[in-house]
Amino acid sequence: MGKEKILVTSALPYVNGPIHLGHLSGAYLPADIYVRYNRLKGNDVLYICGSDEHGVPITISADKEGVTPQVIIDRFHKINKDAFEKFEMSFDIYSRTSLPGHHKTAQEFFLEFYNQGILKEKKTKQFYDKKAKMFLPDRYVEGTCPNCGNEEARSDECENCGALYKPNELKNPKSKISGGSPTLKETSHWYFPLAKFQTRLEEYINEMNEKYGWKENVLQYCRGWFKNGLQERAVTRDLDWGVKVPLDSSKGKVLYVWFEAVLGYISATKEYSKNIGKENLWKDYWQNKKTKYVAFIGKDNVVFHCIVFPAMLMAWNDGEKDKYILPQNVPANEFLNFEGKKFSKSRNWGIDVHEFLDIFPADPLRYTLASNLPETRDTDFYWKEFQARNNNELADTLGNFINRTFTFVKKHFDGKVPGKKKLDKIDNDLLELAKVSSKKVGELFEKYKIKEGVFEAMQLARDANKYFNDSEPWATVNNDKDKCGTTLYVCLQVIYTLAEIFYPVIPNSSEKIFEMLNTESTEWDKCGEENLSPGHTLNKTEILFKKIEDDVIEKQIENLGKSNSTVVNENGLVTIDDFFKVELKVAKILAAEKVEKSQKLMKLKVETSNGERQIIAGIAKDYSPEDILNKKIVIVANLKPVKLMGQVSEGMLLAAENEDGKLKIIEVDDSVKIGTRVK
Ligand code: MF3
Ligand code: ZN
Repeated sequence: MGKEKILVTSALPYVNGPIHLGHLSGAYLPADIYVRYNRLKGNDVLYICGSDEHGVPITISADKEGVTPQVIIDRFHKINKDAFEKFEMSFDIYSRTSLPGHHKTAQEFFLEFYNQGILKEKKTKQFYDKKAKMFLPDRYVEGTCPNCGNEEARSDECENCGALYKPNELKNPKSKISGGSPTLKETSHWYFPLAKFQTRLEEYINEMNEKYGWKENVLQYCRGWFKNGLQERAVTRDLDWGVKVPLDSSKGKVLYVWFEAVLGYISATKEYSKNIGKENLWKDYWQNKKTKYVAFIGKDNVVFHCIVFPAMLMAWNDGEKDKYILPQNVPANEFLNFEGKKFSKSRNWGIDVHEFLDIFPADPLRYTLASNLPETRDTDFYWKEFQARNNNELADTLGNFINRTFTFVKKHFDGKVPGKKKLDKIDNDLLELAKVSSKKVGELFEKYKIKEGVFEAMQLARDANKYFNDSEPWATVNNDKDKCGTTLYVCLQVIYTLAEIFYPVIPNSSEKIFEMLNTESTEWDKCGEENLSPGHTLNKTEILFKKIEDDVIEKQIENLGKSNSTVVNENGLVTIDDFFKVELKVAKILAAEKVEKSQKLMKLKVETSNGERQIIAGIAKDYSPEDILNKKIVIVANLKPVKLMGQVSEGMLLAAENEDGKLKIIEVDDSVKIGTRVK
């Protein structure tokens, strides 16, 4: 069979926080296994990913911290990129949508659609938060459902009863950003005519499904969308963080983050091509009908990858320019939960990838997640399962088989592959099984049944252990050395096969095994054969998998769900001792000035019991420096210093919001001395 050209992408993660294990199970680990497998098959694979760096949540995080969005995206891009590296993701590039090259590509698409005349400009009324001075995206507005009275309904749809309505029908709307009541304000946006593509999209998905077998969960999401009928979608937003709309008439607007993020796959491929000095290579993938494009995502991304993105590519292809290929498959996964509940940062439920990999190596995590991928339904990560899979499967099954074989060969055969004299049925059976297993594992990976493939691979290790036991080399070594040699010959061939079929899942350990075998991996299709010749010298053994002790796992379970600051009891109460951990003191403001480039932050010099200190406070929108000079205020005096916009802040002042949402600093009567403790 000829070699295939395969383009693989994994959803570009948002960079307003670190990725957690759930992300890995959804769109990254399955893709990486698929990619590594296909590379072993000898296919030409290009694997693209990067950070999705625009969108409202990033601007909100930035505002909260009083820093620019750039600070946030730089921070989490680095954390996530490093975490993925530690997790052994084999991306060819990990790019960023904030790069100029991406902005250019996204604007090109917008302009192409604009010039084709398919975008329509429409005036709408949208919720506007006066205090935050911004239009509110749907999910930042909450109110009472006009249909069922659910008080947590969204601006245009109710999750409780499923009702859809106009924003002005929502009762008691509230801004989730400022808490105030937003007003409806007119604005205008550009709309992409998704509805016009519905028939073609349905045909496209049917055809791909017939030819390549799409996953049932994915088809169901798509059918749902088609059944409701596709609607036109606004592709611009009133924001200043994002890809600018390239029209003079649309100042102050950016492209909707989803509209440009999916194009990040293309711009990242262009960047990769440039980096390796083959500027046009990207066309070889994106504009080559022979390329098979597979997009790995989590279930919440289905509509954007199966409907919006293909429609955008179809629209582009309707024009005069070089045509793009569409995804051949979108093997979306469901979600991974954590110990029975959803991952939640605020409830400290779950664990981030970089934290996990500070404690444990990547391979046991890869193996555990791969064994339990949410391919057809949501699954859970359990610490105890992680321990069991590591100890019982990796260490006691795979590791043990390899270890006992090597120990025997070192001791009785001088560390060299023994010759095979006569193969009995039991020997032939295992050799045959290795051949069949590797084929089966490959076929399962190709069908995106990664979990089953990994199970098959471990099954071969189980069978190999049984073979070792049944062959009793410890007995034959004394009474039939040839037989013993044959047994170990077979075991070593199977170790070779195991190293290869486990490579996509646990690459580090697999490389160690090849090193121990003193050889390298071969093409996948040959890995079930007898690859080691009699007389070949083996290297020394290494520890492949370390057992994980109970107390290590118990510590993790104990920490779960506890906030890492003050411990609050079940009733939400703290003790007086907890309260006294916080030192509140009276301080006087000696100097104040606005922090450059920040709308919110003011730099204060205050005096308290132990001298002067600097505090960066988020009050600049509500106070000017002259207003607050010489005021006596209350500060948290023992707060860990932090840096905000490059400035050290040694403490925090107390303030409360009034009815208009203005901050009011807590002031102290002039008769109270500077440095007095507030209690
Ligand atoms: N940032 C999105 C998420 O984390 C995924 C974007 S995929 C892209 O859910 F293709 F649009 F970039
Ligand atoms: Zn409702």
